[in-house]
Amino acid sequence: MEKMPYAEPWRVKMVEHINMLSKEERQKKIEEAEFNLFNLSAEDVYIDLITDSGTSAMSDKQWSALMLGDEAYAGSKSFKKMKNKITELLGFPFVLPTHQGRAAENVLFSALVKEGSIVPGNAHFDTTKGHIEYRKGICVDCTIDEASNPTLYHPFKGNLDPDKLENTIQKYGAENIPLVVLTVTCNTGGGQPVSMENIKSVHEICKKYSIKLIFDSARFSENAYFIKQRDPGFENKSIKEIVKEMFSYADGMTMSAKKDAIINMGGFIALNSEALYRECCTFNIIFEGYITYGGMSGRDMETLAAGLEEGTDFNYLQARISQVAYLGEQLKKAGIPLLEPFGGHAIYVDAMKFFPHIPQIQYPAQVLGVELYVEAGVRGVEIGTVLADRDPVSRQERPPKIELLRLAIPRRVYTNNHIDMIVWGLKQVWNRRNECKGLKIKWEAPIMRHFTATFEKI
Ligand code: F0G
Repeated sequence: MEKMPYAEPWRVKMVEHINMLSKEERQKKIEEAEFNLFNLSAEDVYIDLITDSGTSAMSDKQWSALMLGDEAYAGSKSFKKMKNKITELLGFPFVLPTHQGRAAENVLFSALVKEGSIVPGNAHFDTTKGHIEYRKGICVDCTIDEASNPTLYHPFKGNLDPDKLENTIQKYGAENIPLVVLTVTCNTGGGQPVSMENIKSVHEICKKYSIKLIFDSARFSENAYFIKQRDPGFENKSIKEIVKEMFSYADGMTMSAKKDAIINMGGFIALNSEALYRECCTFNIIFEGYITYGGMSGRDMETLAAGLEEGTDFNYLQARISQVAYLGEQLKKAGIPLLEPFGGHAIYVDAMKFFPHIPQIQYPAQVLGVELYVEAGVRGVEIGTVLADRDPVSRQERPPKIELLRLAIPRRVYTNNHIDMIVWGLKQVWNRRNECKGLKIKWEAPIMRHFTATFEKI
């Protein structure tokens, strides 16, 4: 019997026009942008895959929730609605709003991380790492080894290696480890999920040594979808049941609500411990705002509550993740080298295999991003040597093991015709890959250089 296709559990009510320049115009724009995709005007981009963060489409329910926003400075109804939804779905009794995910990290780590603190995790996201290193803490990456092989199939490449974690605790001492950060799904590792069994083992180890386990939860519901699909024993559980179980093993979470809560701006911290919550409250007031709004307006807290409900719906997740996989499958058919299995929110193209003739130090993933923009007006983002930046001490380049162009798909925004356009564009670049040349940096900032660096062609 023919397999039933998937289709989106929504229809389009409003459209936003997008502009397609000619190839010659795009060539000019990227030269003016000095080959940094961040420097382009968004209106010169046809399909924008620079991130899936804050770029998704809200639903009619979310837009109408906006009108219910209670903008009271303290104790607003909208805060209560958001908090109750978080407690209902994720289980945590204490909630602090923040203006986005990195702000949640800033507040929580102000309470937990000190100079010399060791923070193990599964490939910490840049801002997480930034907030730890800014406090002179040290991130220890304990991701399973399988994650660094881009073509090896492993259903849960986001898993944290329990032996590596135990060894890290033995080496540095539990008293120097205030928390373990588990990122679900693991963005840096390619949008890869963490299995329930792995979550449980990490929880057991943290419990044994009285170390807090905090989830970096930006894409938690995509993680739950993969558990349902790939983790034996979970196929008949609902996404909401899986989500509840996942978070039952955590002491708390930081959330960038710009991803799986499907809103344009916002975030929060949620915790089990009242004592830690109280400590965080002080930092929240200093950095974010009063504890019942923390940088969010009441209307945004309304949309967050509605978005969490929609973001944990199976049909929505199936359409979303299948669309990302559809992009992956079409590219794979064309012979384009990719990171596998496909991530939940993005497809990652292996730029070193795409351009074996361009040395890593000439930024092959940046070259691929530039060429794809010129070809089809599609903007991805480099996850490679430019992003990896220089070693803070030696100032030498530190090329990562894999060099990737990330194509992140905003939620409920593009159709599969857009996906076909992305595939077509990459195929054009693939056909002329041997003619593409490397880039060199003209100017770079001392830290986080990828946002503002300028390049020239070699
Ligand atoms: N954690 C993860 C796993 C993330 O992917 C991000 C953001 C953050 C934390 C920080 O959240 O942006 O709301 O402050 N990721 C975006 C991206 C920027 O493009 O992957 P934020």
